[in-house]
Formats: sequence, C-alpha cells, structure tokens
Amino acid sequence: MTNPVVTSPQRIIGEFAANKSGVPARELVEEKLQKMLDKALYANGRPSAQKIRNFLNGTWLGEPLHVVLTDVPIGAWTVAIMFDALDLIRNRREFSLAADTSLAIGLLGAAGAAVTGITDWSDVDPPARRLGLIHGLLNVGVTALFTTSLILRKRKLRTGGRVCAALGYGLLSLSAHLGGKMVYEQRVGVDRTAGEVFPKDFVAVLAESKLADSIPTRAIYDGVSILLVRRGQRIFAMAETCSHFSGPLSEGKLVGDSIVCPYHASRFALDDGRVLDGPAVHPQPCLEVRVRNGQIEVRKPQAIG
Ligand code: FES
Repeated sequence: MTNPVVTSPQRIIGEFAANKSGVPARELVEEKLQKMLDKALYANGRPSAQKIRNFLNGTWLGEPLHVVLTDVPIGAWTVAIMFDALDLIRNRREFSLAADTSLAIGLLGAAGAAVTGITDWSDVDPPARRLGLIHGLLNVGVTALFTTSLILRKRKLRTGGRVCAALGYGLLSLSAHLGGKMVYEQRVGVDRTAGEVFPKDFVAVLAESKLADSIPTRAIYDGVSILLVRRGQRIFAMAETCSHFSGPLSEGKLVGDSIVCPYHASRFALDDGRVLDGPAVHPQPCLEVRVRNGQIEVRKPQAIG
C-alpha cells in the first residue's frame, strides 16, 4: 500500500500562486518591493542619496545602525509596560505620566528603527528576505498598537490604552524573536569574513605573471579565497568574500583604488579594506603582499609592538 501524499495548505496556496515561470507570486512581490525601495533609496545613483544610505546602513559606525536603534523602542516600551503595571497597583499620577512619556519615546525610536530596517532589508537575499518582510510587517502592527494606546490615553481612556500597549508588547516580542533569527540563523548583519583564517607567515598564492593589471583575481590558500589586484606598481590583497553577504569580490568592478561588490554594490578601499559605500558595514580584512621568486606572497598583517 502506498502512502498518501501529504500536502500542506501553505504549499497548495504557494503552488497555486506560482506564475508561468514557476516562481511563487510571493517571491515576485518581495523582489518587486525590493526593486522599488532600491530605486527610491539610490535615487538614480545620486551621490547625496548614497551618503544618506551609507548613514542609514551604519557604514560610518562599523555596525548596522538598525540594530542599535531597535534598543530605543524595545527599552522604552518595556519601561512603559512596567509603569502601567505600577500605576495599576498604586494609581499614582507620576506612574501614568512616566508610562505615557516612555510610550512616546518608543514611538520616536521606532521611526528611526523602521527607516534603517527598510534600508537594510532592500539588500537582503532569500531566504532571510521573507523573514525580514514578516518582521517588518509585525513591527507595523506593533507601532499601530502603541500609537492607538497613546491616543486612547490622551482621550482619558486609560484602560483601553493599557490593553493596546500590552497587545503591542506581545507582538513586539514575536517580532524581536524573528529579528534574532535573522541575525543568528541567517547571518544578516554579521561579518561574513569572520572566521576566515589567513596565513601568519608569507605564503605563495599566485605566480606574479598571472596577475594582469587592473583585473581582480581570486587566489585560494588553504580553502580561503583571497582577492589580488594589481594597480601599476602596487599589488593589493584582501579577503575575497564580501563582508556583507559573501559576494565574490573578484567578480566585482574596480573604481579607482576601490572594488565594488557584484551583489549589492558595496565599495571597499583596496589599501585598507575600509567600507566606502554600503550596504556593507564591516571592513574587508587586508593582507600584506610581497613578490619573491616570481610568486605573489601574502600574510596577515603583523601586530605592531
Ligand atoms: S554581498 Fe552584498 S555588497 Fe557584497
């Protein structure tokens, strides 16, 4: 006897919604949304738009700015719930005032977290993209509940305001859980070069004759990819895996003495690996280079002192 084929309702809906090319409709929607965001955020490549984008990504900070800003609403709304509880027990004006003020501060922080989160999400690839979208939609619900809570409080409907805040906090916990999954499971915002081990002493990775001028080239040493670039008399070497989402930098484009990642156009300085343009926020590890007996040799920079 053959086993009956078990198909989940979610799968049936997904397959039903697939278009002629076989791509599920929900993926097309996510892709379209990302393209629209990209168009708006890059503003047709205007340099000022790139600067704003760099700021929102956290390129200047060396960490995703979104992660820092999410602490504001989470912290403020936790305080608001705490003062709501105290007010309920003690019925004191100071507690209700503190709850309302914390709630308003949380809403301001949520605006910052939303703008930076949307900017980051526009460069997130599947499978984390879906999780990011759900995380964002949940946060819209959270913000709506806390906004309603504040409005009700202003209209002297404190009990309704407290209920909305409690519901918002429950939804916030679920959303924060998904945010954590994006980082710890999908590695969004994590330095993708972390854990790569580079040689401590000089080792040969490529014959000098094989490195043409201004052609980004991949060399492999002990399973780790290394990007080599010759610019005139100088040879640069750095981690080849992009710190943002593991894009192959040897397939990127050279712009002056910088390399642009082929995946989401992060730009890194060849001389020290610093991020010139996001969405990457972590610099590329650079290596020392020398040429011996016709071979290009590299090693990890030696600690000074
Ligand atoms: S992988 Fe995203 S910019 Fe390189």
